[in-house]
Amino acid sequence: MIEFRNVDYIYEPETPYEMHAVKNVSFTIEAGEFVALLGHTGSGKSTLIEHFNGLLKPSSGSVLFHGTDIFSKEVSMKEIRSKIGIVFQYPEHQLFESTVLRDVCFGPKNMGLSEEEQKERAKAALTSVGLDESYYEMSPFELSGGEKRRAAIAGVLAMEPEALILDEPSAGLDPRGRDEILGLIRKLWQERGLTVVLVSHSMDEAARYAQRVIVMHEGVKKFDGPTREVFTHAKELEEIGLGVPSTVRIFSMLRARGEAFPADIDELSVEGAAQALLTHVLHKEGGHV
Ligand SMILES: Nc1ncnc2c1ncn2[C@@H]1O[C@H](COP(=O)(O)OP(=O)(O)OP(=O)(O)O)[C@@H](O)[C@H]1O
Ligand SMILES: [Mg+2]
Repeated sequence: MIEFRNVDYIYEPETPYEMHAVKNVSFTIEAGEFVALLGHTGSGKSTLIEHFNGLLKPSSGSVLFHGTDIFSKEVSMKEIRSKIGIVFQYPEHQLFESTVLRDVCFGPKNMGLSEEEQKERAKAALTSVGLDESYYEMSPFELSGGEKRRAAIAGVLAMEPEALILDEPSAGLDPRGRDEILGLIRKLWQERGLTVVLVSHSMDEAARYAQRVIVMHEGVKKFDGPTREVFTHAKELEEIGLGVPSTVRIFSMLRARGEAFPADIDELSVEGAAQALLTHVLHKEGGHV
């Protein structure tokens, strides 16, 4: 669905501020995948996702949507922007209309839909993120942190995109707000068959939600594979300051102490890890589960 071919991006080339932010990055994202894009601050995640819908043009290389270069003449950038929805880092800074409903209408309005269709789309999108009628006429500034993120997601969903790209949607929220927003994203992915790319700093978040992980380091793609497989590279991930999910770390510590666990335990989810530990302890005590 979305393909990056040898994408390079240089900010302010040939100036003293030149910054080579993305270096020769290639990958393909298939329709319906849930991918986590991980990496340290400054590793190039946001720069990379601004290429998904042509906000940035590669300094070299290309970005293809369903096999066509998004910068070729036959492609309408407006259409690309409605099909690939991006929720930016701290999206609350982008809520600017006087009411929540108007704000969510913004995308459909830009698509040239009638006022009636705009409202229909906006209301459906607000419902799907759990904001009911009582929110329509509120000012976006009256919303809580989590509600603002939901409204921003609704603004993108109202365009009925094929892919939802989210840049650190859980940043700055409390643990409950984080679980709520990520649970919502998972639900949208499951129920709508959306393609999701989730940018994150958190290994635990990626372990819990993503099927596949892409790891960026200093502009270079370091790892790309099924979540479980990528997290077997604990040493390399630690070397680039990322580490592995806390559940995976616990099991590797226990194994290092000589405790034996079956190979097929679910180390990536908190529930799976808890179950495996419980089984292990009860087994050692000779009990039953
Ligand atoms: N507009 C810009 N002009 C010049 N350099 C920039 C610009 N935006 C980002 N950079 C630089 O490009 C590199 C990659 O930045 P980017 O924002 O893509 O990283 P990131 O992985 O999203 O980081 P974070 O986790 O902090 O959001 C960094 O060194 C950053 O300072
Ligand atoms: Mg960023």
